[in-house]
Amino acid sequence: MISKSTIQKINDEARVEDVVGEFVMLKKRGANLLGLCPFHNEKTPSFNVNPARNIYKCFGCGKAGGPIQFLIDYQQLSYPDALKYLAKKYNIEIEEDEQTDEDKQKEQEKHNLVESIHIANAAAQKFFTDYMLQNENGKIGLAYFKERGFLNHTIEKFQLGFAPEGYDVFTKHALKEGFQLEVLKKAGLTSPKENSTVDFFRNRVMFPIHNMTGKVVGFGGRIMIKDEKAPKYVNTPESEVYLKSKILYGGYFAKNEIRKKDECLLVEGYTDVISLHQAGMENSVSSSGTSLTVDQIRLIKRITPNITMLYDGDAAGIKAALRGTDLILEEGMNVRVVVLPDAEDPDSYVKKVGSEAFLQFIQRNRKDVILFKASLFAAEAKHDPIKKSELIRDIVESIAKIPDNIHRSVYVKECSQLFEIQEQILITEVNKLRRKKANDQKTAENREVVQPKDSKQDQLPDSFHQEQFNQASSNLHILEKDIIRILIEFGSWKTGEEEDAETVAAYVLNDLDGLEMETDRYRMMFDLVKREFLSGNVHEEKFYTANEDEKVTSIAIELLTQPYSLSDNWWQKYKIVLPDKKLMFVKDIQSACIRFKQFKNIAELKKIEAKLKEVTDETELIKLMKLHKLFIEQKKEFAKTVGNVIYRPTT
Ligand code: UTP
Ligand code: MN
Repeated sequence: MISKSTIQKINDEARVEDVVGEFVMLKKRGANLLGLCPFHNEKTPSFNVNPARNIYKCFGCGKAGGPIQFLIDYQQLSYPDALKYLAKKYNIEIEEDEQTDEDKQKEQEKHNLVESIHIANAAAQKFFTDYMLQNENGKIGLAYFKERGFLNHTIEKFQLGFAPEGYDVFTKHALKEGFQLEVLKKAGLTSPKENSTVDFFRNRVMFPIHNMTGKVVGFGGRIMIKDEKAPKYVNTPESEVYLKSKILYGGYFAKNEIRKKDECLLVEGYTDVISLHQAGMENSVSSSGTSLTVDQIRLIKRITPNITMLYDGDAAGIKAALRGTDLILEEGMNVRVVVLPDAEDPDSYVKKVGSEAFLQFIQRNRKDVILFKASLFAAEAKHDPIKKSELIRDIVESIAKIPDNIHRSVYVKECSQLFEIQEQILITEVNKLRRKKANDQKTAENREVVQPKDSKQDQLPDSFHQEQFNQASSNLHILEKDIIRILIEFGSWKTGEEEDAETVAAYVLNDLDGLEMETDRYRMMFDLVKREFLSGNVHEEKFYTANEDEKVTSIAIELLTQPYSLSDNWWQKYKIVLPDKKLMFVKDIQSACIRFKQFKNIAELKKIEAKLKEVTDETELIKLMKLHKLFIEQKKEFAKTVGNVIYRPTT
């Protein structure tokens, strides 16, 4: 393990503008640098590099981090590899920490296992390919692929192969090569059977599955003849290196072309991907055997916001296509759908008509998914009011998932015309759904806040109160965010001019002594600041924006690159003019703390009041009443202070 002090040195030396500048053209813009974001496709630059903070942030796609994170995200290095890269760049000698033998062994084992699985998969791929090309018994596999129209260079590119018919031909071979049985099993290449073991893939043509860096992580094996009793494909079970929800078949071969064309073609099967690549549409991928997952969508989103789905023309194909589309819309991406003529899949259709006609077919027939949905059922629903309203509801739900306002309003307009229904009605419906969703999210985020840890659901106030609570919780969330931001950004600053003035961190921690943050992520940060403070450390911003804990880093960067809700909204909203910046800064902190305390006070009061209604035991009642009085007094006190600090009339 790389030692803490080496990591510290690397964090001190590495300059975000150097590291990013190696890969991205940056232009000076004020104190910052600006460039085209390497993580998403854009024409006007929104990728911001801030040398003072040593961080970058894209205001288009939200990607943010420091030098190390950039290497992890852009070059897809592991954390230790990113550190090594920077150490080399800045001539820093790497010190390794002494690990206990047990630690070392565990790490080694884990590392070895993953590495061994990779090696076993690579060896298996080579075995299946060699067997197909060189072994008499394997030629049947090659003939199958040829028969399907796959050319030599395609077979080579996708590293296709054939798994022999015998019982354990591959496993025997691999054991002889020195592979451990355990590794073959973990890789999903060999399965236990009774007292022995057997090849997982037998007598099947083989499609290796590559991850985004081109390593073979699994296989799909297709049967060569029709057999009702056997599955058409068997696929590698999930393993240490193969999580099928995170793999796109063809992704490795398609990524450059997806970037170039700024569009990803999404199809259903292995053979569709291969045929489209062969026909020149090398931006094709497939989710292979699973319905499309959010992780797969995000893999694509890193490269392009545009997805075109190509689906079989039968009802099942259309249903399958539509299932994935809401997820894509929710990611803020553009989805178009092409439905192929009946009974054709992309593989069969491109072979039938050739690549030029196929491309033309796509150009002519691709429809925006929402309009596609609308037109698909419009005819059917036209004279059936119930069907029509169901359809509208369905489409409104899809529209509500789109994060971008302008996008949404375009759809609303189109649908209002298509269905001959007033735009305003659609807008109202869409907004209702969005509000509901926002509320659901908030409630989920703050469930802990609303319910004291040991309380039961039925102690919650009625729905009116519930709504107030939700509202309030969201305010609390903002208050907590501001306080954490203050601690990160100004924690090490002094609160006054004097030599012995206390630090902002000391002020805040004393002032909020005994209170807890309620939003998980902010409580985690607050506890970190507290822990460090108690062991004598008050850190500068950099400690948080380049923290060894990735979660800390990402929260810190997010907070520092967001508009400051306190200064930006609060002071302006109440038109408070402050004499100078310094004063504003201290006032900011005071007001954030007071409002937080005030909020906690009100929440506590509500809890006490709820309990008061139910309590039967007299001593308990008296105790609660005393407590109630105390909190009421506090409440008045806060109201006064808040008035003093915050509502200063402008002059
Ligand atoms: P298809 O049945 O459409 O297969 O299933 P295909 O790829 O077009 O194959 P050909 O053209 O008939 O040879 C689509 C995808 O669903 C998964 C595979 O990933 C396949 O490519 N699948 C299908 C399975 O995983 N298992 C199965 O039994 C069938
Ligand atoms: Mn097919």
